[in-house]
Amino acid sequence: MNVLIIGSGGREHALYLKISESRLAGNVYGAPGNAGFPDSRRIAINPLDFEAVGQIVTEKEIHLLVVGPEQPLVKGIRDYLSARHPGLKIFGPNAEGARLEGSKSFSAEFMEEAGIPAGKSSIAHNLAEALSFLENHSLPVVIKADGLAAGKGVSIHSDKKEAQDKLKEIFEDKKFGEAGNIVLLQEFLSGREASLFAICNGSEAILLPPAQDYKRARDNDQGENTGGMGSYCPGHHLTPGQMGYARSKIIEPVLQRFAYQGLLYVGLMVHGPNSEDISVVEFNSRFGDPETQVVLPMIEGDLLPYLLWSAGEDIVVPRMVAEGYEHVPVKPGAAVNVVLAGRGYPGEYATGFELQLELPEKTPAWIVHAGTKKVRDRVVASGGRVASVVSRGSTVAEARSQVYAAIDALKQSNNFDSLEYRSDIAANVSTL
Ligand code: AMP
Ligand code: GLY
Repeated sequence: MNVLIIGSGGREHALYLKISESRLAGNVYGAPGNAGFPDSRRIAINPLDFEAVGQIVTEKEIHLLVVGPEQPLVKGIRDYLSARHPGLKIFGPNAEGARLEGSKSFSAEFMEEAGIPAGKSSIAHNLAEALSFLENHSLPVVIKADGLAAGKGVSIHSDKKEAQDKLKEIFEDKKFGEAGNIVLLQEFLSGREASLFAICNGSEAILLPPAQDYKRARDNDQGENTGGMGSYCPGHHLTPGQMGYARSKIIEPVLQRFAYQGLLYVGLMVHGPNSEDISVVEFNSRFGDPETQVVLPMIEGDLLPYLLWSAGEDIVVPRMVAEGYEHVPVKPGAAVNVVLAGRGYPGEYATGFELQLELPEKTPAWIVHAGTKKVRDRVVASGGRVASVVSRGSTVAEARSQVYAAIDALKQSNNFDSLEYRSDIAANVSTL
């Protein structure tokens, strides 16, 4: 069967690599994809142009559409295409389900109603209201723009004046445009974050192994928040007990309320060792990036049956689901991903420089493309996060040292004046 992956980042190339391994997969396309996709499999369309996506579905005889990023989901790609292409299977929630990511106030209200453990939120519709909430709020306070802001809409303030200035920037200067018409003031949660992915089919969920993302730009979690600078999997700081608790207290209510189909990304804060020592930081309606680059290589066997099951293909019930397993079978060991970003990311960074992303033969690591494009025969940088270097090893430490050795090898053929990366990804991980 032919598969179309919507999006152009590292997540989408990681999906391409895993889906292409499936014996069920025919042609696997990316729209628009990146330089990691073979030339014949890239389709240069805008993922928000649903009519164009629909034409490709027909032209390329697509059976399964896998939606990578959040914007098309929030805009209703599932609703649009399922109404016009009844045979098409779509991996991703409808617009209502995607609102869990698209509107943080909607998500906070739902969690409150459903009794899902999360930080308390006050929802402000204008500056005066926000400033008055701030007066009585404990510090640090987390300020969140309601809508999609490419991971930049959240800030944490220990200083009241700084928080006031931030609220003014959002409401008066429209720093996040329409996404900042509503603002949440949220209780600060301390602990370690974990990303838990659940593949949902409307009534049931199967969990993927948890991962740890590194969001800050610089070593030792310094610098600005980014889309994510590295990751490892499995993140054993989320215990099996906590995964079970997340299933019953967090994922089940989402299934019940939304008949949710697709990937539910549960961003968690782990406060302590007990099952109930977790709170939701955020919901996303799609796979995480850069977690997908490490989660998918840790899945034993084929991913495609789970995606088809989620998308409502009634003949496919993956064995693990049929047998009532909590999570997919996981390979031994661990995977680590270090992101190479354009120097300056997430601020200003250069693009257009040439990259040589082939690793020497037998290197126990591989490249996942992100912000790359093909210009004639050359691969050039086209985005902030350029590529991931990923490896799997028998331990986190082994995978980590293989990744950094592969980065050293890339230094022979690339100008690292234009690239940067964190040197502390997956360092000092006590488990495994
Ligand atoms: P979000 O877009 O809501 O995931 O927020 C982005 C990042 O901000 C999270 O991954 C956390 O690192 C941080 N964050 C968000 N909400 C909180 C909170 N309530 N307490 C502490 N950190 C938070
Ligand atoms: N890695 C964070 C995200 O995908 O939202």
